[in-house]
Amino acid sequence: MKALVTGITIALAASVTAWTMASDEIEAVLRNSFVAKNQATMDRLERDAVQSACSAPRGMPLDNDMLTTLRAERLNSVVLPPDGQYLGDWQRGAEVAGNGRGLQSSDDPTQPNGGNCYACHQLAPDEVAYGTLGPSLTGYGARGQSEAMLQYTWTKLWDTHAYNLCSHMPRFGAQGILTEQQLKDVMAYLLDPASPVNQAAE
Ligand code: HEC
Repeated sequence: MKALVTGITIALAASVTAWTMASDEIEAVLRNSFVAKNQATMDRLERDAVQSACSAPRGMPLDNDMLTTLRAERLNSVVLPPDGQYLGDWQRGAEVAGNGRGLQSSDDPTQPNGGNCYACHQLAPDEVAYGTLGPSLTGYGARGQSEAMLQYTWTKLWDTHAYNLCSHMPRFGAQGILTEQQLKDVMAYLLDPASPVNQAAE
């Protein structure tokens, strides 16, 4: 038993050492592969605590308490709309959801960013071009507009890491990608019964 434990400990220590060496090389490759251009600067290679934890290689031991703390920190940092109004205009929200521009080197930083929701989600059932990395949100409004639903959806949009630490969805509020008004408009696009998201396909 003792030999087994020692063996596992050595194997783990070896894999962590191997990763540390590999990660230095990966870092160098990343730095050499990117150039700063316009608003796309090199600080994009800096990872915050959540991104570092979520970029750890598969099988690398991660401290569960650390992950729980990180997630709680994200949840505690969510800013709910100060006026208590969660829902804006679904028509403007449709534009935000369908706009994939913003934050790239070729985008005009004086123009508002889009949410690019269709890159990962099905929303209005009549739109045929959508990605499937995220679940379909068609009919999302059937969940209703209780305070719990409003807060859940807002939080998911504000900082998806608050619920799912290593989620692939952008942190629209926490990262300043969308404005408070844009978030409200997208909320309405998801939840307003009149929104195309909540109509049957023609
Ligand atoms: C890069 C891909 C990506 C983009 C862009 C994206 N999402 Fe997501 N989203 C996901 C993934 C993956 C999940 C499910 C896993 C998770 O919870 O993180 C998800 C989950 C969600 C959920 C929770 C679903 C549920 O059943 O409760 C909502 C709501 C949502 N997204 C809304 C949006 C909206 C609105 C936009 C645009 C403003 C958007 N997402 C943009 C990837 C994305």
